[in-house]
Amino acid sequence: PAGLGSGGDRVCFNLGRELYFYPGCCRRGSQRSIDLNKPIDKRIYKGTQPTCHDFNQFTAATETISLLVGFSAGQVQYLDLIKKDTSKLFNEERLIDKTKVTYLKWLPESESLFLASHASGHLYLYNVSHPCASAPPQYSLLKQGEGFSVYAAKSKAPRNPLAKWAVGEGPLNEFAFSPDGRHLACVSQDGCLRVFHFDSMLLRGLMKSYFGGLLCVCWSPDGRYVVTGGEDDLVTVWSFTEGRVVARGHGHKSWVNAVAFDPYTTRAEEVATAAGADGERSGEEEEEEEPEAAGTGSAGGAPLSPLPKAGSITYRFGSAGQDTQFCLWDLTEDVLYPGPVPRSRLDPAKVLGTALCPRIHEVPLLEPLVCKKIAQERLTVLLFLEDCIITACQEGLICTWARPGKAFTDEETEAQTGEGSWPRSPSKSVVEGISSQPGNSPSGTVV
Ligand SMILES: *[C@@H]1O[C@H](CO)[C@@H](O)[C@H](O)[C@H]1NC(C)=O
Repeated sequence: PAGLGSGGDRVCFNLGRELYFYPGCCRRGSQRSIDLNKPIDKRIYKGTQPTCHDFNQFTAATETISLLVGFSAGQVQYLDLIKKDTSKLFNEERLIDKTKVTYLKWLPESESLFLASHASGHLYLYNVSHPCASAPPQYSLLKQGEGFSVYAAKSKAPRNPLAKWAVGEGPLNEFAFSPDGRHLACVSQDGCLRVFHFDSMLLRGLMKSYFGGLLCVCWSPDGRYVVTGGEDDLVTVWSFTEGRVVARGHGHKSWVNAVAFDPYTTRAEEVATAAGADGERSGEEEEEEEPEAAGTGSAGGAPLSPLPKAGSITYRFGSAGQDTQFCLWDLTEDVLYPGPVPRSRLDPAKVLGTALCPRIHEVPLLEPLVCKKIAQERLTVLLFLEDCIITACQEGLICTWARPGKAFTDEETEAQTGEGSWPRSPSKSVVEGISSQPGNSPSGTVV
């Protein structure tokens, strides 16, 4: 599945000043489960706290597992869990950005390029092979659009960062690459989801939260939908291909900190059909195509899944919130294809009620399939693995939740009839010896 690496077998969590590694269990490259009994490695930092991390899924192998770690004071560390003495620090003197690293990610299928977003609202492109300049970088404006600008770093020698993006107002909270690696979805404290075509740096879509900042974002496995969670306590489903809000989900009683599609129960059956609405949509998708800009090596990758037959689509995603609840949501055919969509004219002076931010009654309001209080502290991590779901909360309680023995239909029936409880929890693990560190949320990733 997209986002899970082959060859590697580590799960990483950061908590307070520490970084923990657990062994995962792999079957032919897919991450099935994890063993939370004992961390296999642990790193403790002084003076600055890890805030986020990302394994390089593309290069992960038995002889290398490279990891990026972002810190509260703005630095980024590159390290290899297998090759020792390869650690490097970027933005060490904080000349590039002094604010917290909010999120970082390797570029899809890249050995060397990564993006780091900061609380300053800036996003930087780095090459791990380049050193950082010894003076604050100078930039020249490359491109500008509504609510964003892109700068190239001026440097004769190869230096980091290579480029800077200023996105929205206030912190850039999280970003995510589309499964084909071509588009980048960014969510910001200004409440906007912005989707860019990465190589051309063109804005491809914009959505506004109902209110407050947007905190998390993910793509559906076929790249057709983007789901966000935010301070409006909602999950919002936005169609990338149609450029509209498809539905909102109401179930959380506080901020939504994490959203993720479940690639193992999301079912867009691969039925080739050219009929009806699907034909039109495939036409729209072609307009989205951009010529690949040379040089960055980020384009390419797997093509979008064949268009599914409308009647067979079921996407499932999960969300985890400040309210300690874990919710599961289904996106079904009736919600995705409601018939002709009334589009209001875009009035820049008034966003609410426009296509950017429809009123609550103007789009379907999803009910969660399951919504369950599963912790005492706010939840900050949600990962779907083949055999289980992992959640983690602020104070460091990491839980794995077993998937029911059988697939989709049984599980759904069980949830609906209320027999047994789902998710089930056979295994819980507290990271020992840790007190909670306010203001620094644990986050987890799998390689
Ligand atoms: C990163 O830098 C190295 C060393 O300068 C270079 O060989 C490589 O091509 C760069 N990678 C990309 C994707 O630009």
